Amino acid sequence: MVKDLPETLALHGGPPAKRRPFGKGRRHGEREKRLLEEVVDSDVLFYFFGAKVFALQEEFARRYGKRHAIACSSGTAAVHIAVGALNLPPGREVITTSITDMGTLTGILYQGLVPVFADVDPGTLNMDPVSARERITPKTGAIVVVHHSGLAADMDAFLALGREFGIPIIEDCAQAFCCEYRGRLAGTMGVLSTFSLNHFKHITCGSGGLVLTDDEALRYRATLFLDKCYQREEKIRNPFFLAPNYQMTELQGAVALAQLEKVSEIVERRNALGTRLDRHLAGIPGVTPQVTPAGCRHTYFLYLFRLDRAVLRCPAREFSAALNAEGVPNADHLITGGRPVYLYDIFVNRSAFPGTSYPFSPERIYQRGDCPVAEAAFEDWITMNVHEHYTQEDIDEMACGVAKVARWFAAR
Ligand SMILES: Cc1ncc(COP(=O)(O)O)c(C=O)c1O
Repeated sequence: MVKDLPETLALHGGPPAKRRPFGKGRRHGEREKRLLEEVVDSDVLFYFFGAKVFALQEEFARRYGKRHAIACSSGTAAVHIAVGALNLPPGREVITTSITDMGTLTGILYQGLVPVFADVDPGTLNMDPVSARERITPKTGAIVVVHHSGLAADMDAFLALGREFGIPIIEDCAQAFCCEYRGRLAGTMGVLSTFSLNHFKHITCGSGGLVLTDDEALRYRATLFLDKCYQREEKIRNPFFLAPNYQMTELQGAVALAQLEKVSEIVERRNALGTRLDRHLAGIPGVTPQVTPAGCRHTYFLYLFRLDRAVLRCPAREFSAALNAEGVPNADHLITGGRPVYLYDIFVNRSAFPGTSYPFSPERIYQRGDCPVAEAAFEDWITMNVHEHYTQEDIDEMACGVAKVARWFAAR
């Protein structure tokens, strides 16, 4: 594949491997405009008096085969609502992965719960169920499983843990629309699951979120939790627990509905491009694509590959810079900005709320060494985007870029 490429890296003045501009396309169009126009014409933007948010909830639940979907203002709100719906007393612990977005963690902290971080699997970078098991204590109140990058985590193992210890499992599917685990859709297995509609996700309404559940009591509490604990269904205004306002507006609902019509096509396209890239990269010495376990459908929110540092004598940072120069956009800091989340200042300094270490517990300190696989990942992994508008030629040229850079670092 790389035979006809010049030896000289673009970083050193050679011609870049990516020669043509990336395929482009619009994410929003006539359908979004039409549904937005209907909302404006209705003169109602408030979800409870409108139709679009309710229609979105119905359609989302139908597509996932779940009894209830609850729409809200963001993926962060969705996790907060899910955790809030569980009604855990402050001080209980919630186990989650050490490589995720802060949006997984914000709601845990706001509920006065203590995040406990498990290590990741070295082949997938999803939470390792063995590490999660080691962190279970009598204080464990929930496990939040994140399907990182569009690849399902090992749900059978997490569901087994949940059953064995009587712990509810929440799935954070913010990055994993339509992603499959052994024939089941990610988001259909936990007692609650959450999604994000932010700008970067497979589908977007600017900002938005969704929660799925089959449980009527959880649905009811979730709907109160996103709306100041106002019992709108019963026309009662007498809040009995603390709840924020995480309403989705009709404007977001309209765009989200239009986007939902496109989601299957988007994930199919990303899957086809991502698996093509996998095939190319599998043949490059020193480079290993993220492992997609048998029976899983990866939907490539991000494309990840690992560098074998025994073959390529360079840290991910150097590889990344050379690949960027080849015209292949990529990053070496995963989704967290370069460290496992427990090494963020908020955890190391226990500074969630001013003047207090609440809700952190003296028994749970956060420090380097907590999750060795996650920490090492920042030396070895590269992420790239696989947008649905990319062409096969884009993928082939991206692979050429990776091959060219790998060849150079292998020969060094
Ligand atoms: C795994 C995960 N959880 C939660 C969130 C939060 O979603 P939002 O940005 O919509 O609040 C994100 C967003 O990037 C995410 O990737």
